[in-house]
Amino acid sequence: MKVIDTVARMMTFSRMVRKEGKTIGLVPTMGYLHEGHLSLVKAAKISNDIVVMSIFVNPIQFGPKEDYNNYPRDLGRDEELARSAGVDVTFYPSAKDIYPEGYATYVNVEGLAKGLCGKSRPGHFRGVTTVVAKLFGIVKPDAAYFGQKDAQQAAVIKKMAEDLNMDIDIRVLPTVREADGLAKSSRNKYLSGAGRRDAAILYQSLLRAQSLIKEGEKDPNKVIKTIKAMIKTKGSSRIDYVSIVDPGNLKDVATIKGPVLVALAVFIGKTRLIDNVVVNALSP
Ligand code: PAF
Repeated sequence: MKVIDTVARMMTFSRMVRKEGKTIGLVPTMGYLHEGHLSLVKAAKISNDIVVMSIFVNPIQFGPKEDYNNYPRDLGRDEELARSAGVDVTFYPSAKDIYPEGYATYVNVEGLAKGLCGKSRPGHFRGVTTVVAKLFGIVKPDAAYFGQKDAQQAAVIKKMAEDLNMDIDIRVLPTVREADGLAKSSRNKYLSGAGRRDAAILYQSLLRAQSLIKEGEKDPNKVIKTIKAMIKTKGSSRIDYVSIVDPGNLKDVATIKGPVLVALAVFIGKTRLIDNVVVNALSP
């Protein structure tokens, strides 16, 4: 596995690969890899000649009071995991290389980035789309891989790629979970003891929501109330939002019909976790 740590060398490498007629699959990450990331690599390997994994903790997608400084980092461990998963190139640029002095260009997807996490993390998706657009420009992938856990992120990136004619296939892969259902996330590292046990309630409440919808519940407020009541039984929890939205436009639905995205963000102690399920409602 090659480790490339400058934008210039990554661009040269990608140019060479494309000249050879080979395809590139990109797995963008912020490192501290887990099985969710590795499932993206596995999918990328099936459909591409070369798999590039970027590891970059992107400062501009964190708010001033968020965990940029504490975000878990362990390049040695990540390289080991990436190598054994079959990644061909790890791209590990510095923040100065990505955002040199005088950097002034940002990408903003309107509408989709507004609600859900966009409401409580202003500027977050602007940071995500900006860095992902840059990674697309540097790596020039044919396809890029994201996890369904970050459903809003995936929707926003898909929209960006479509609106800006980036000609990159955006693939979204299922959420990978721990044995108790907790969605794999680098931030799970912050959890321990009771908090870690409490965190399992997120997926349990989503499964309960799924059952209610499958049984015919059409009122989103009733389902949201059930989810919130379940989460509130855990002492370490504080709900940011629970929403039931149309998976296409991410707007709240008035009645549950067709597929809906049931999404939530909950603090367990100081750790903000997100999760979601897409549920196909019974036809009336
Ligand atoms: O999902 C992530 O890890 C990040 O938001 C991403 C897509 C790598 C952009 O920094």
